[in-house]
Amino acid sequence: MKIYCEKDYQAMSRKAANIISALMIEKPDCVLGLATGSSPVGIYEQLVKRYREGDLDFSRVTSVNLDEYKGLSGDNDQSYRYFMDTHLFNHVNIRKEHTYIPNGLEPDSQKACDAYNEIIRNTGGIDLQLLGLGHNGHIGFNEPGPVFEKETHCVDLAARTIEANKRFFEKEEDVPRQAYTMGIQNIMMARRILVVVSGEDKADIVAKAFLGPVTPEVPASILQMHRSVILVGDEKALQKFPNLKQNICEQ
Ligand code: GLP
Repeated sequence: MKIYCEKDYQAMSRKAANIISALMIEKPDCVLGLATGSSPVGIYEQLVKRYREGDLDFSRVTSVNLDEYKGLSGDNDQSYRYFMDTHLFNHVNIRKEHTYIPNGLEPDSQKACDAYNEIIRNTGGIDLQLLGLGHNGHIGFNEPGPVFEKETHCVDLAARTIEANKRFFEKEEDVPRQAYTMGIQNIMMARRILVVVSGEDKADIVAKAFLGPVTPEVPASILQMHRSVILVGDEKALQKFPNLKQNICEQ
């Protein structure tokens, strides 16, 4: 695993955007696994800037997002489709029909999940999966539990996740209780994984995930078993990592 420790959120975002940009230049028809939440917002700003400056071309890129709230339509401003449109897709030349997100409006969970697994398979595989990290160690919406869920599934969101995500909604009751998310196997099949973490409040969980035992009680801990993970964090989030004297280290 490669770890980059950056000064702050801005520097973290730039580093992560550099890694994504390098892939897009090397492989213009790459498949990007994308994420929502506050962690990747700065990355998307950087990517939009680079596109506007003429340095990036999204015309042949395909994207598959990790997750979507069940019951929200794409034009609901709390849906992840809306998030992706407003933070990235509307501002670059990606073809909307090449951007995939689970269908939150499909009431039949099995149908929604099967369809999404099929979409992921049809892309030919994710070249780079971007991930944030929930405070309880969730990735996508894979919550802590007794087993690692393999493929796209419908989850009941953990109380802590509802609590953390209520800041985006008017009131806590508005936060959907369920979501569709890629499973751990879908994520682990990505050729590379890029995890971004910032802020003091992530310090404990990021240490637990990457330095602790591999367990489905900390879903992100499985990433220790992936052969190509890049962790980009700011100093606050990475403060519990020993030997991070220089700004990059291999583990
Ligand atoms: C949400 C998303 C995750 C995201 C996590 C962390 O629950 N489903 O994909 O990584 O929150 O969010 P943030 O980056 O805002 O801390």
